[in-house]
Amino acid sequence: MLEIKDVSLSLGDDGNHVEILKNINFTFENKNLYVITGPNGGGKSSLAKVIMGIYKPEKGQILLDNQDITDFDITERANLGIGYSFQQPPRFKGIKVRELLRLASGGFDDETDMCRLLHNVGLCSRDYIDREVDNSLSGGELKRIEIATIMARGLKVAVFDEPEAGIDLWSFQKLSETFKDLHENYDTTIIIISHQERILRLADQIILLADGKIKEVTDGEKIMADIAANTRDCMCGQDCRKGVNRNVECIG
Ligand SMILES: Nc1ncnc2c1ncn2[C@@H]1O[C@H](COP(=O)(O)OP(=O)(O)O)[C@@H](O)[C@H]1O
Ligand SMILES: [Mg+2]
Repeated sequence: MLEIKDVSLSLGDDGNHVEILKNINFTFENKNLYVITGPNGGGKSSLAKVIMGIYKPEKGQILLDNQDITDFDITERANLGIGYSFQQPPRFKGIKVRELLRLASGGFDDETDMCRLLHNVGLCSRDYIDREVDNSLSGGELKRIEIATIMARGLKVAVFDEPEAGIDLWSFQKLSETFKDLHENYDTTIIIISHQERILRLADQIILLADGKIKEVTDGEKIMADIAANTRDCMCGQDCRKGVNRNVECIG
């Protein structure tokens, strides 16, 4: 379980500090899938970076399974099993997928394990295991390979920042199935920053973060029911629905 206790964060130059996170309190329970959503600039990526140890909060504590990790750096947290997926995954020219998976897992070499991982992220292992992790891969392929490396690490907590960014719709649909499988078949606690309804649907809990504060925590099923209940006539022949961010969307 990952506990965020009364965390505040300010960033910027001396004399020009901006308060980014304000007294955040939240407990991420083991094996659950959480989606953090909310407007741009609300502090979502900053919270992810606080969890990873990239930003150090000026106030508050972070505990992993009751251990205080507030002063741990990125490497120490990675060793404890906290991983972060970049908004744009890096490419590694000259490194093959199998080598990347071996490095990520800390040495597993078994081809069957690697193939299972690639299969779980929706890639045909025969076609990908000897591919280079370079510009020949599309954004969606790269994202799925990165997720395979996260699974290979057997992480306790995995944070994904807007995994939908930069990938096409078809790949995105496969990607959301990948998250579903990851949630069902692995013990990792999953935290996804996303605006996508397809991802919101997978959540055990949805956290609405705006203006550096948690505005609302909602049960995943409830919020989807709310969206359905708010469907009403928008214009002639159109439906409208209220999204998580309380924006009314017209459909049709
Ligand atoms: N390194 C930084 N220095 C100063 N301000 C920052 C820095 N990083 C983010 N911010 C500001 O913090 C706020 C929250 O940013 P961010 O966490 O990226 O929001 P989100 O991911 O929800 O869009 C924004 O106003 C942004 O401009
Ligand atoms: Mg962000």
